[in-house]
Amino acid sequence: MSQLPTRVTLVDVGPRDGLQNEKQPVSTEHKATLVTMLQDAGLKEIEVTSFVSPKWVPQMADNTAVMAAIERRAGVRYSVLTPNMKGMEAALPTKPDEIVVFAAASEAFSQKNINCSIAESIERFAPVVEVAHEAGIKVRSAVSCALGCPYQGEVSPDEVERVVRLLKDIGVDHVGIADTIGVGTPKRVQAVMERALKHYPLVEVSGHFHDTYGQALTNIYAAMEMGLHTFDASVSGLGGCPYAKGATGNVATEDVVFMLNGLGIETGIDIDKLVDAGAFISAQLGRPPVSRVGRALLAKRAG
Ligand code: HMG
Ligand code: MG
Repeated sequence: MSQLPTRVTLVDVGPRDGLQNEKQPVSTEHKATLVTMLQDAGLKEIEVTSFVSPKWVPQMADNTAVMAAIERRAGVRYSVLTPNMKGMEAALPTKPDEIVVFAAASEAFSQKNINCSIAESIERFAPVVEVAHEAGIKVRSAVSCALGCPYQGEVSPDEVERVVRLLKDIGVDHVGIADTIGVGTPKRVQAVMERALKHYPLVEVSGHFHDTYGQALTNIYAAMEMGLHTFDASVSGLGGCPYAKGATGNVATEDVVFMLNGLGIETGIDIDKLVDAGAFISAQLGRPPVSRVGRALLAKRAG
């Protein structure tokens, strides 16, 4: 029997990965309220926004305003996405605790998502990493399409490892293995994680699983069997990627916390307050929470 971790850190990426995909406007104030509710629920890592082109992702155009509007709390790490130096220069004055560079394991997705090859993306990230480290800011990364690509199809562990190595070479501190379209299954996830763990220690590898095919919880469990203990999740199961059509949101934070509670694994998260956060943002979007646990607990309260 493998040993599961006793404690797991969840990074809520809902305000960024979740909301980036929403067509309807969400006010800066509501985005900031969502962040407040997440930290009230005990989240210690929150991905707040992205400094990308507003032409590419209009919903994140108020990035600077959102960073100014959040109520910062000691002990909470606020991260933002920065695809290039232009994004980094805009992000720096907003004082993020961590920045995230995002590469892809497939050339086709790299082109569609950030309009350049994998090699070019690494060249763009290198000065971003340097500037972040000079400013004492940690650099996390995401490797998109690590379990499959909407354009290329299959993606091999070799392709993932190649990008992980490139990220390591430019000094990225942490690597997040992302199943952008949610097609991964447990053994494949373990095979890819094994490659990441050749280059980064356990504490600096995380999983980012979209739940399109309903595999995300199982994949988290499979990664925990290897000792991984950091995962991204999105409150209410919000989101998707605008450049991966049909991909649904990340695994819902509520669903992950429910599973971890059942396993006796600590997260420091209050599930009732988390459900409140999910209900709040879903109400702003005019639809019920995607999270099954969120819906079940709301129904129980109502009953
Ligand atoms: P580009 O068009 O190749 O950029 O886009 P460029 O350098 O040629 O510049 C073109 C214009 O964009 C210029 O403006 C630049 O100033 C501007 P113009 O002179 O035409 O007015 N520009 C910017 N503006 C604001 N912020 C910036 C920036 N950079 C250039 N940082 C670029 C390249 C990377 C900017 C573009 O492709 C882009 O913004 N892509 C964003 C895609 C994105 O946000 N995708 C979703 C996030 S990734 C994701 O969801 C996956 C993840 O969750 C993990 C997973 O699930 O896989 C992380
Ligand atoms: Mg994502």
